Amino acid sequence: MTKKRILSGIRPTGKLHLGHLVGALSNWKKLQEEYDCFFMVADWHALMSEYENPTGLKDNILDNVIDWISCGIDPDKSAIFVQSQVVEHLELYFYLSLITPLGLLERCPTYKEQLRQVTNRDLSTFAFLGYPVLMAADILLYKADAVPVGEDQLPHLELCRQIVRKFNHLYKKECFSEPKALLTKTARLLGLDGRKMSKSYNNYIALSDSPEIIRKKVQGMFTDPQRIRVSDPGHPDKCSVFAYQSIFSCREHDELCQRCLKARISCTDCKKELVSLIGGILEPIQEKRAVLEKQKDTVRDILAAGQAKASLLAKKTVAEVKGLLKI
Ligand code: TRP
Ligand code: SF4
Repeated sequence: MTKKRILSGIRPTGKLHLGHLVGALSNWKKLQEEYDCFFMVADWHALMSEYENPTGLKDNILDNVIDWISCGIDPDKSAIFVQSQVVEHLELYFYLSLITPLGLLERCPTYKEQLRQVTNRDLSTFAFLGYPVLMAADILLYKADAVPVGEDQLPHLELCRQIVRKFNHLYKKECFSEPKALLTKTARLLGLDGRKMSKSYNNYIALSDSPEIIRKKVQGMFTDPQRIRVSDPGHPDKCSVFAYQSIFSCREHDELCQRCLKARISCTDCKKELVSLIGGILEPIQEKRAVLEKQKDTVRDILAAGQAKASLLAKKTVAEVKGLLKI
């Protein structure tokens, strides 16, 4: 039986962090055992918001891919490639944009939210409005059956399904099937300060952070403000350290709660424990990273092989679409 296909992507806007590991990479690693996977560096999507200052984008691409491989994304199992190296993404993006109703894009909740929230960049551009159309092209170019995404991307996937229905209806052919969302089961990892994890808040632990930096960052994390003395009972629900513990610790959730509620552990020790938990997870990743950093040509070869595999499918889909559009 042929494997079902998956496509997913990450925008190369900076260093990858624990949020990427928990929310995407560890899931991708599992999925590649079961699916035919295409993992893409979405550099054109990154440009849609970083176009005023694209410096560093190229370096981020290689840096991010090194992290992917170090986290267990296996180039022998999955195609790893860069979006802008497969020009057909743009071609299909145009064909899909022909039939995408403007209203759907203008009403897209992520679009409205970003326009409101992002104040340091001008996102009121034609390209940014079309963000979900390029994402639909990414997915449909490979006729992916499923797309592992975070909850924040669900509106984009819904838009993609709407485009599929309209396309098939207009051109009277089941050219595309509607892709399914594969949501990550782990709870979303918040930033060190309890706010949304974000580059602009600088509230994350990068996958490449040294043990010393991890220690400093964890030490600076907010704990329950009402717990002043060691003997005071803690409130796990008000503590960022707890949120991290419950994702990374092997202890039962109940045990983690109880030892805080009953003041059986000090915040200092709780943080020390978290430092070593995160260190233990990142150490093997960083060891692989150190090797790959000295083998950048191998990483480039991996991207070239991924590009070749992706291009093959991409060309086939574009030819089919051009046929339907009579050009
Ligand atoms: N928009 C996604 C994000 O910001 C990244 C992305 C681009 C993507 N193209 C994709 C994810 C295709 C899944 C499928 O996270
Ligand atoms: Fe947070 Fe741990 Fe302190 Fe409880 S013991 S308040 S979980 S740091």
